[in-house]
Amino acid sequence: MTDRVRIFDTTLRDGEQSPGCSMNSEEKLIMARQLSRLGVDTIEAGFAASSPGDFESVRQIGFEIDGPMIVSLCRVIDSDIDAGVNALDGAPNWGIHTFIGTSDLHLKYKLNLDRKTAIEKSVRAVERAKKHTTNIEFSAEDATRSDPNYLVEIFSAVVRAGATILNVPDTVGYITPTEFAKLIMRLRNDVYNADQVIFSVHCHNDLGLAASNSLVAVEMGARQIECTINGIGERAGNASLEEVVMAMKVRQSHYRIDTAIKTEQIFPSSRLLTKLTGSVVQANKAIVGANAFSHEAGIHQDGVIKNSLTYEIMNPESVGITKNQLVLGKHSGRAALNEKVREMGFDVSKEELNRIFKQFKILADKKKTVYEEDIEILITGDKIKGIERYQLVNVNVASGTETIPTATVVMEIDGEKTAPMAFYGDGPVDAALNTIKEIVKIPCVLTSYVVKAITGGTDAQGVVSISIESGGISVTGRGSHTDIVVASALAFVNALNRLELKKSLKEGGLISIKEYQTV
Ligand code: KIV
Ligand code: ZN
Repeated sequence: MTDRVRIFDTTLRDGEQSPGCSMNSEEKLIMARQLSRLGVDTIEAGFAASSPGDFESVRQIGFEIDGPMIVSLCRVIDSDIDAGVNALDGAPNWGIHTFIGTSDLHLKYKLNLDRKTAIEKSVRAVERAKKHTTNIEFSAEDATRSDPNYLVEIFSAVVRAGATILNVPDTVGYITPTEFAKLIMRLRNDVYNADQVIFSVHCHNDLGLAASNSLVAVEMGARQIECTINGIGERAGNASLEEVVMAMKVRQSHYRIDTAIKTEQIFPSSRLLTKLTGSVVQANKAIVGANAFSHEAGIHQDGVIKNSLTYEIMNPESVGITKNQLVLGKHSGRAALNEKVREMGFDVSKEELNRIFKQFKILADKKKTVYEEDIEILITGDKIKGIERYQLVNVNVASGTETIPTATVVMEIDGEKTAPMAFYGDGPVDAALNTIKEIVKIPCVLTSYVVKAITGGTDAQGVVSISIESGGISVTGRGSHTDIVVASALAFVNALNRLELKKSLKEGGLISIKEYQTV
């Protein structure tokens, strides 16, 4: 059907639904723009039926993002298909991705359906979507633990009904590459009109086999891989986009197949996702980890200096890792900043530019060098605020070897400035967070605290991610600043704002994607 592998990105759906990776609609739109720059074929923008927020976000991405096909996930039920269609109908390039569990385990315990009824429901869903679009993907959830004969039967039925892409998910990351190769071969041989449809794979990484399984499927004729940036996703994650794409590029002589990915956009995409979600990539992660291109051993360093091919199978530039470029200094004007922001692919209003410019001047006074990454933080930093009930006005901390760390904080709550409050802690960050807690009086437990230096040097901007839990709700907040205590306070306040948003959604009767998984 096609001589290249389509890249179906599910960072905003499967990735986003994993703990610590949630994004609000503004963040999803920023990420979707970057995915379009990266050159993915399809963006799964969300699950339109799961909440009005998700519906709006799918719709916004569908109508605002050029290039990739935008799809919504839908269960095989009428209201889900209708939500997906209503969100996307009229968008330039869109489709529907519908799914049902096909293993006996899922049919019996999750869905309480027999095999025949599951086929009938799937056919009905595809036919319903078909009235509005020809881009219809059908997924057999838990395919790798399903009876292959049944898979042939259900896939054949949905092809007859109009499905154009058949997705074979390894939902629980269970299958081995050899078994998966056999399964894909069997399906390509036996499914009705198999040569008229695209076979897709969607592999989870529970045994660390997601990339290998995806690639072996390509060798067996699959022509779409579903994956995520940085491999985020349920549990151990999904196949990571950068790994499967670079494997096919670096080992072109083996795979003999291309993707449409602009690989120089891989690292900027990875970095942006980290910034938006606060979910940090492990240092030894293939392709995008901090150590992926660093050489520690003397013998290796010597070899790389003489000829980088000795220890590097790809060069860092090919995935968009470049030496930090000095972009602007404290004498740069608004016009130069505007040009840089546009060159970096961001579309900002006049008001946004004014705000960024003010912050840029403050930053340029503090830092000797201002990098693209710094500017990216200024641009996205403001956009990633949710509803802002709480604002940090100022935070000052006294700490050292001879003093009890004490913070003084002033905040704004619903637009009203609070009186200064002072409190102590085990260290300067603890003191700042304790003081904020004293002001807002929201009982919560800190479940994770991560600091990452996004730019280089001792004047780097630190990005802090803080996860908190309160009343059974978990949220992650982010903050960035050259001062790590201030970044931590901002991250905590951001988490509190997200908590408020989540609480109000729950009180309004809206539910999360996780709570929505059964038919
Ligand atoms: O893992 C899975 O099976 C899924 C499907 C909905 C495609 O995410
Ligand atoms: Zn999945």
